[in-house]
Amino acid sequence: MKFTYYGHSCFTVEVSGKKLLFDPFISGNELAKDIDVNSIEADYILVSHGHQDHVLDLVSIASRTGAKVICAWEIYVWLSKQGIDNVHPMNTGGKWNFDFGTVKCVTAKHSSGLPDGSYGGNPMGFIISSKEKNFYYSGDTALTLDMQLIPQFTVIDFSVLPIGDNFTMGPADAVRAAHMINCHTVVGVHYDTFGFIKINHKDTNDLFTTNGLSLLLPEIGETISI
Ligand code: NI
Ligand code: MN
Repeated sequence: MKFTYYGHSCFTVEVSGKKLLFDPFISGNELAKDIDVNSIEADYILVSHGHQDHVLDLVSIASRTGAKVICAWEIYVWLSKQGIDNVHPMNTGGKWNFDFGTVKCVTAKHSSGLPDGSYGGNPMGFIISSKEKNFYYSGDTALTLDMQLIPQFTVIDFSVLPIGDNFTMGPADAVRAAHMINCHTVVGVHYDTFGFIKINHKDTNDLFTTNGLSLLLPEIGETISI
């Protein structure tokens, strides 16, 4: 699968020929200033929760591309008010078959206020199952025992986990999460964007290696095969 990183927790995965964009936050990220938001293509946009650093460019990309947005019910209502109608609302525990594969929404232990102060519903993680590979994006979350359920749902080939600490899991808890998920390959996100979430790359890499895990930290704008 092709994985492209746009900084913070924003990335695209190509699944069965469809481009799935996650948590679009680019124009507010100084580290992603070389990314042209208007060049990003998407067939689907998956939104883990309502915080600004996950939805800042959502309306503009959704309206330009016509991509179908997959998000919590409350974010669907918020989008409707802004004229975005191609939305599939979901909630934790639910799954749905799309043309690229299946999305199952799972628990994320976080909060979810929208930029205008309205309630964003449950924050969510997503398990994507497809004919190619299966992966898990946890969204912003603490380490939670609910992650132990994930291998019962699907064998996960790779996971995308926050590692920046302060607002979410840090590296040590992401290692614990990888063990719970039973997944060897982790793409780290939600780090270095702001002062509160700057990490030491060498220490973090060493921690994952010592624990028998592979941590991938693509450059912003880089596409990797995974
Ligand atoms: Ni958040
Ligand atoms: Mn966040």
